[in-house]
Amino acid sequence: MQLESEQRSRLDRDGYLFFPNLFQPDEIAVLIDEVPRLYAERRQENVREKESDAVRTNFAAHMYSAPFARLARHPRLIEPAMQVLGEPVYMHQFKINGKMAFDGDVWQWHQDFGTWKNDDDMPAPRAMNVAIFLDEVNEFNGPLMFIPGSHKQGVIDATHDTSTTSYPLWTISHGTIARLVARGGIVAPKGSAGSMVLFHSCLVHASTSNLSPWNRVSVYLSLCAVSNHIRRFKRPEYIAHRDFTPIECLPDDCLLKDYDVALPWKSGTPQKAGDTSLAA
Ligand code: SIN
Ligand code: MN
Repeated sequence: MQLESEQRSRLDRDGYLFFPNLFQPDEIAVLIDEVPRLYAERRQENVREKESDAVRTNFAAHMYSAPFARLARHPRLIEPAMQVLGEPVYMHQFKINGKMAFDGDVWQWHQDFGTWKNDDDMPAPRAMNVAIFLDEVNEFNGPLMFIPGSHKQGVIDATHDTSTTSYPLWTISHGTIARLVARGGIVAPKGSAGSMVLFHSCLVHASTSNLSPWNRVSVYLSLCAVSNHIRRFKRPEYIAHRDFTPIECLPDDCLLKDYDVALPWKSGTPQKAGDTSLAA
């Protein structure tokens, strides 16, 4: 899938593009049906909420689940990112965020590139996020909020918040957020399961808790230009991948046909994926 020039100008101006209903219900069913099994697993890739057993985020399912391994090679996700970055991409991070009914906690205001630079030594913000809604996203179940145009600020000062939620994040001060919102406002793309959002790694974003009775499961692919790969392996490999091989796309019907995919972590995460060191 290729972006048109009008879409590329909007992406450049706003920092995101929204594609309602890009995937069909039968394609999404293959993915959402797999989530309860993945979330039930007791493995380190499942990070649970602070106050409950609900999964906040599941990492690296593309390494041990066939439907998600196929999604990770889907041309509707990969090709626009390659087009924007102008070169092949590799998977920097792959997560399935739960934001489960009643239990889904906040994601504080942040830029993803802030974390990737500070923790992983990614050289430049030459990486894009692609989110796919596996549930409907509405105004009640904690939609992802963006400050349009905030990616133009480059890397914004942030502090490492290790206490608010169960997942540490480099977060931006309230004063800075107020200043950015005064200029750009806040948007929250909402829509059916199967919708997709493409957004810049410097776009400031957050989401509130989910007090509704509806889950808000979404998948996030963080795709990095191969030449811009991370230099530091401080975080476990299932959070910040160290395989910089360019992604090769499967055909467009890959969610509906059983294309062969490698599942290297199917019978468990290798010990080395949990290793951390400061050396690249
Ligand atoms: C994220 O910022 O990575 C996730 C935010 C969300 O799922 O609401
Ligand atoms: Mn984020």
